[in-house]
Amino acid sequence: TEVKRISVPQLMAYKGEQKIASLTAYSAPFARLLDEHLDMILIGDSTAMVGYDMPSTLAITLEQMAAHAAAVVRSTRRACIIVDMPFGSYQESPSQAFQSAARMLALSGVAGVKMEGGAALAPTTEFLVERGIPVLAHVGLMPQYVNSMGGFKAQGMTDESAERIYNDALAHEKAGAFGLVLEGVAEGLARRITEDVSIPTIGIGASPDCDGQILVTEDILGLTGGRIPKFARQFADVGALISQAVGQYAEEVRSGTFPALENCFGVKKQAGQG
Ligand code: KIV
Ligand code: NA
Repeated sequence: TEVKRISVPQLMAYKGEQKIASLTAYSAPFARLLDEHLDMILIGDSTAMVGYDMPSTLAITLEQMAAHAAAVVRSTRRACIIVDMPFGSYQESPSQAFQSAARMLALSGVAGVKMEGGAALAPTTEFLVERGIPVLAHVGLMPQYVNSMGGFKAQGMTDESAERIYNDALAHEKAGAFGLVLEGVAEGLARRITEDVSIPTIGIGASPDCDGQILVTEDILGLTGGRIPKFARQFADVGALISQAVGQYAEEVRSGTFPALENCFGVKKQAGQG
């Protein structure tokens, strides 16, 4: 049966009605499993660190992000699919951002793009939205600003910093963003922004009162091989399951019990069988 994909306006209408459940996905096997459960799937540039083992998100390219996004779009049919615009593809000017985002949409088929930036990026949000590209604005802890921040640390802890992030959020709302990702911000600030804007907020290390939540899928499945960030929760240990299965496979290859003849082609049946 035909399943209708959740649209950006539908996601916006969730505000005050139901929570938005979302996670990241970078590839078809994960996207397929996530699709039936989630309202939104993000192809996050966190794949630079999670999937490519890069030290930050800065070096991933538009072409790499588009290839991952296309895989996620092809392997899903229900969730609204949004992609991160990579560092350097949108910060220079609204027209650079539009060209990059239009190319991203053409290459991948996603419904909209996410961009990190404060109030200074609001004119870019407005430029894209007015030209038909839905924008999810990402404020607070912005990993593409790692060099300016001097690391990944929670934001909005002082009154001054909280006020700046509050104004960033409202500037993007005014510019027409369809939603706000609030990452790594003080809980009370995330709650206040959520109360004061008419668009959904999606929190990660933010507040239970946000209109939705997002996490990196590998973090909740035990697939990062390291410690779980404070803002995440491990819901399963898929890493242990994979390790056990691969270990058993290797053992059976070495002992000669895999493959069995039933896994082989053109095997002559023995007399008296079949
Ligand atoms: O890149 C990413 O995964 C993200 C979020 C988790 C919001 O931007
Ligand atoms: Na990101």
